[in-house]
Amino acid sequence: MKILVVGGGGREHALAWKLAQSERIQLVYVAPGNGGTASDVRLVNLPLTDPRLLAEFALREHVALTVVGPEVPLAAGIVDLFRSRGLKIFGPTQAAAQLESSKDFAKSFMQRHHIPTARYQTFTEAAAAHAYIDAEGAPIVVKADGLAAGKGVVVATSVAEAHEAVDSMLSIAGGRIVIEQFLSGEEASFIVMVDGKNVLPLATSQDHKRLRDHDAGPNTGGMGAYSPAPIVTPALHARVMREIILPTVQGMAKDGIVFTGFLYAGLMIDEHGNPKTLEFNCRMGDPETQPIMARLKTDLVGVMEHAVNGTLDEVELSWDRRTALGVVMAAAGYPEQPRSGDVISGIGAESADYVCFHAGTQLADGKLTTAGGRVLCVVGMGDSIKMAQKVAYDAVDKIKFDGAQFRRDIGWRGIKHPG
Ligand code: AMP
Ligand code: GLY
Repeated sequence: MKILVVGGGGREHALAWKLAQSERIQLVYVAPGNGGTASDVRLVNLPLTDPRLLAEFALREHVALTVVGPEVPLAAGIVDLFRSRGLKIFGPTQAAAQLESSKDFAKSFMQRHHIPTARYQTFTEAAAAHAYIDAEGAPIVVKADGLAAGKGVVVATSVAEAHEAVDSMLSIAGGRIVIEQFLSGEEASFIVMVDGKNVLPLATSQDHKRLRDHDAGPNTGGMGAYSPAPIVTPALHARVMREIILPTVQGMAKDGIVFTGFLYAGLMIDEHGNPKTLEFNCRMGDPETQPIMARLKTDLVGVMEHAVNGTLDEVELSWDRRTALGVVMAAAGYPEQPRSGDVISGIGAESADYVCFHAGTQLADGKLTTAGGRVLCVVGMGDSIKMAQKVAYDAVDKIKFDGAQFRRDIGWRGIKHPG
């Protein structure tokens, strides 16, 4: 069977890597992919911004199933289009993807269905937004309504910073913003697969969004992640399913939108262990996918078939009991202006406790170079977070490219957590 993975990041490399391990796979295509091709993965030179070309490719190549990595094609309606052509695809429809593509949609949905989240208001007029900030005070969080690749959120520590964020976000024509209460606590990523009615949770994970050690520096797409996340105890897991995930899937159905695809709730867990939803993503996380896939033992092809056929209730996932920990190595200049073209060396051979997923890399004439912000995600496995960390950083220390940026402390939250 042939499968198509849409996307070109580390998440898509990890999905393709896992799918390609299945005995039933003839070929995994990745569009557009990156420099990390294995022998059984083939790159397709098609932009993910044009779902029609991808659908034509899938029809021509008799692709049995398509899995979508990033949010942009989902928000553009790739799932609706593929289905209208009779193609099987796993992901949310354009309407369902609004959970991620519009903060205003997500917030009003959560309010309507009593899903715990920060108090908020939506604004299109600057004057009203400024008045709200003056009344609420800081810290306060200002979010652009649409997709912004992680750049649309300002966690303002002062009222002045919040006012500035309002002006810059509303200066865009037709701009709409959400202003919400600041939540303190610890973040975790809670990712499930949904087939329209059945919900299958994946292993828990946590990522690190800031560029530098000790969670300093600018926000990024994620500088590292590990699975499992000890903060998500079995009791908290049950509670998140009951209070957030199931009401979301049922609430969407009640609103007339059947949700299919990966559903990712970004959680903030307060000091008493109460979870609130910071945001929804309608896809897997990057880099959370990399350690999660490194731990998945079940054949992902079979799981995907159940997902598109509406029979996820028949699936039981099995996970490597070890911790997987992924360190992102980013290019010089990331996140503002990543530099391309630096030669990469020192990626060792994959083993039972090590795999290096590619993201912003390019392979040309046998030479591997940087070609994007986040370049690699180096995953180590170990019986504890510390042991996984050691495997990952031993590998990171051997990998070289000019200007490489990475954190030395991926996993610190998990290490400090009891149990
Ligand atoms: P989002 O894209 O909504 O997840 O926001 C990106 C990041 O901003 C989150 O991962 C949090 O670190 C932070 N953030 C978002 N909303 C809040 C909030 N209400 N309180 C505190 N931090 C937040
Ligand atoms: N790692 C955060 C995200 O994928 O949105």
